[in-house]
Amino acid sequence: MKFFLDTADVDAIRELNDLGMVDGVTTNPSLILKAGRNIEEVTREICEMVQGPVSAEVVAESAADMIREGRHLAQIAPNIAIKVPLTWDGLKACRVFADEGRMVNVTLCFSPAQAILAAKAGATFISPFVGRLDDIGLDGVDLIADIREIYDNYGYETQILAASIRSVNHIIEVGKIGADVITAPPAVIKSMAKHVLTDKGLEQFTADWAKTGQKIGG
Ligand code: G3P
Repeated sequence: MKFFLDTADVDAIRELNDLGMVDGVTTNPSLILKAGRNIEEVTREICEMVQGPVSAEVVAESAADMIREGRHLAQIAPNIAIKVPLTWDGLKACRVFADEGRMVNVTLCFSPAQAILAAKAGATFISPFVGRLDDIGLDGVDLIADIREIYDNYGYETQILAASIRSVNHIIEVGKIGADVITAPPAVIKSMAKHVLTDKGLEQFTADWAKTGQKIGG
């Protein structure tokens, strides 16, 4: 399972990247706002740090304008994946970028039908939003399962990038299904290390060790 970090927070990316856990990064307009940084400046910094794909999102509505913005963003670094929304214009832009040999991440996917179109348009990644479907009482994990089944039936090479991941459980569930990539906030990735029995066990070991009166290494 590849881990992408869903953030434009450079310090948070560095911490996990130094551990070799970061396979890529995804950003979006909301995350750029949260970081309070200039999109080109922060994206360049992230691209220099992380070797894998770094998604940078266009904001235009028409295919022509998306193509212009996407080509501009792609100049930032060779590892840019241009992120386009799953609209008809976004799919047109996706096809143009794919034919130019650029990586494309089609975002805001909420149905298997949309995911099929993204694959047909040559997307490198499809981003189904798990958490946002859960938010409206649907099952985001089911969407990942449906897309996995359909893509496997036809051998589509588009990678399933499970997005809007909000919990460790989401990561486990989409991992069982075989999502190629998950993108999650750094805090969610770090919380994968937590377990109540780990804490309890460590407490016990620390207490027992103190009773031995020993020291390791002098
Ligand atoms: O990158 C898009 C996606 O991961 C958004 O997540 O938590 O804002 O629904 P969220």
